[in-house]
Amino acid sequence: MAQVAINVRMLNSRINDPSHWLTSERVQGYLERADKIPHRREGENVLLDFIPKTTRKVLDLGTGDGRLIKLLKTKIPSAKYVAIDFSPPMLRTLKQRFGSDNFVSIVQHNLESHLPSVGNFDAVISSLAIHHLKLERKKALYSEIYSILRSGGVFCNLDHFASRSRRLSQHFRRALGGQRAPNRNHEARLNTVESEISLLKKRGFVDVDCYWKWLQFALLISFKPT
Ligand SMILES: C[S@@+](CC[C@H](N)C(=O)[O-])C[C@H]1O[C@@H](n2cnc3c(N)ncnc32)[C@H](O)[C@@H]1O
Repeated sequence: MAQVAINVRMLNSRINDPSHWLTSERVQGYLERADKIPHRREGENVLLDFIPKTTRKVLDLGTGDGRLIKLLKTKIPSAKYVAIDFSPPMLRTLKQRFGSDNFVSIVQHNLESHLPSVGNFDAVISSLAIHHLKLERKKALYSEIYSILRSGGVFCNLDHFASRSRRLSQHFRRALGGQRAPNRNHEARLNTVESEISLLKKRGFVDVDCYWKWLQFALLISFKPT
């Protein structure tokens, strides 16, 4: 009972935190500037290049309003897409976009827990979401992604990584127009590209590399061996 009370208090404090993804404030703020993030389309275009046209099923983790799925559907309209996110305000925008699309399934799920049973995939994609998870959870998630990918499948993560120094981190924030980190833990949780590549290799992925990078944004692509 005491544990339940603590968990409810923690959830309430997170919902009341305007920097948390469960709040409309954070979601609206992000969606308003999503198109203005410098160079992101370059990274997204490289990501799209790595999803073969023969792809039948794609999973998007931390899908937000379905930005990546929308881009990928223009290239592969016949694929089935599964979109996972945990934020009710984000899911509302996602449903507005894809609620009546039979090719897109929307799943509310917190990535802090084991992935739900949603089948096997030719490609798993994600953009600016996985860095929110703690290191231990990320390791487990990468193993879960590996296990649901079909042989030869691809995992593309366009994400936010740590700078090598405080000076470079400040440069990145200035390049974003002076936008601050959303909360104290955010920067501390970021991993370097090199350690993230090593995590992915340890989980069995091959040809893992950084295929595109601009300051703290990088696209890591990994393959499940055939
Ligand atoms: C910066 S937005 C990116 C959204 C989208 N992928 C894009 O590129 O525009 C981060 C997304 O990750 C989701 N997210 C963060 N932590 C999550 C978690 N633990 N479980 C599920 N989704 C999460 C948020 O709700 C939000 O939609």
